[in-house]
Amino acid sequence: MQKTNWRNLTESTLCMSGSAFPFCILHFAFFIPYPARMKSRHVFVTGGTGYLGGALVPRLVERGHTVRALVRPGSTGKLSPGCVPVPGNALEGATFADAIAPADTFVQLVGVAHFVYVSVAQPAPVMKAYQAVRAEAESLLRASGLNATILRPWYILGPGHRWPVLMKPLYWLCERLPATRDGARRTGLVTLPQMAAALVQAVENPRSGVRIVEAPEIRTATLAP
Ligand SMILES: NC(=O)c1ccc[n+]([C@@H]2O[C@H](COP(=O)([O-])OP(=O)(O)OC[C@H]3O[C@@H](n4cnc5c(N)ncnc54)[C@H](OP(=O)(O)O)[C@@H]3O)[C@@H](O)[C@H]2O)c1
Repeated sequence: MQKTNWRNLTESTLCMSGSAFPFCILHFAFFIPYPARMKSRHVFVTGGTGYLGGALVPRLVERGHTVRALVRPGSTGKLSPGCVPVPGNALEGATFADAIAPADTFVQLVGVAHFVYVSVAQPAPVMKAYQAVRAEAESLLRASGLNATILRPWYILGPGHRWPVLMKPLYWLCERLPATRDGARRTGLVTLPQMAAALVQAVENPRSGVRIVEAPEIRTATLAP
């Protein structure tokens, strides 16, 4: 349910410029509560220079979140503009532990209000060692008592990552057979924009406890305006 935010109602009515103008008038004229503004979050990201990080970081920045990213020496140039680099190594906690104290969301680790972790679809018939490592990390997260969102994509389609498209007919068939339906859905292909949207949604909607987000939910992730 949307909360009435009187400050935003006033501000939006006074600030009559840009594309929001007709909506400000509508809200004022019909006395419709103006939706509470999205809370800006302090986000610390590991892997911000990678394939997924390169899609996620610019989206978080453009939505007004403060983003800092752990960066290895030599990779700073790969980081998206608007994001503050924090030099360090993910395998050596001491190199970045001090830098994350003010963050309220960590997209990958440590004792914070909300931890967002990209895991992998499981169970699945191949890449068992990869799944085992992710399952162990998920268990550690549960045991830690942190509020966490765990996303479980299987393969993320995007630039340079398209070959699994060839398997779409097989997915189509497997989703129709009762014996293979669940597995096909769980390991279904998602796109890079869908995955980035699901991560932003996770950052903006922390929950108590541990929440698992699988491929079908990643595909339908929608962001509040
Ligand atoms: N892509 C997929 O289809 C897919 C599917 C399921 C799950 N996932 C998971 O999603 C996550 C991101 O995937 P991705 O495809 O974006 O991976 P990626 O392109 O390989 O990016 C890896 C990122 O991790 C950073 N990194 C690696 N070792 C580091 C270290 N010791 N210290 C600091 N940074 C380090 C890399 O930094 P540098 O720039 O310095 O190399 C890079 O930014 C991974 O955990 C992956 O297993 C991906």
